[in-house]
Amino acid sequence: MNIFEALRQEHEIQRHLVAKLVETHGDTQERKKIFEQLKHELKIHADAEERHFYIPLIKKDLTQEKARHSVAEHHEMDELIEQLEDTEMDASNWLKKAKELEHKVIHHLDEEEQEVFQMAGKALTDNQKLSLAEDYNKEIKKMR
Ligand SMILES: [Fe+2]
Ligand SMILES: [Fe+2]
Repeated sequence: MNIFEALRQEHEIQRHLVAKLVETHGDTQERKKIFEQLKHELKIHADAEERHFYIPLIKKDLTQEKARHSVAEHHEMDELIEQLEDTEMDASNWLKKAKELEHKVIHHLDEEEQEVFQMAGKALTDNQKLSLAEDYNKEIKKMR
């Protein structure tokens, strides 16, 4: 498995969870459960992805700007998560914010897969693509 396949697997989990989240209603156990799952998935993915994908990419001229942009988006998603935590789950604003998060997450994943992966494909060697996947998967396993 290379780093792109490893990251894509996690992206699918996030797409699934965020789609489920915006289907939930009010102050319910289901909404709480899915929100906590998504929050955890976003966090472990961003942490491991920054360490085993973006740090090597920031070191290369070709990918530095894209890598910085993606890391900034990780912070924007963190902020939306914090805002959701500060909002009552049965407030009408909660779903509005959750939909904002959904758009941000989908945009971020699509941009990574369509733009960042393509450039990273040129910037990284085949060996790097494999060894980064190994390191990334090891770290995700530890945190999950
Ligand atoms: Fe990301
Ligand atoms: Fe990602």
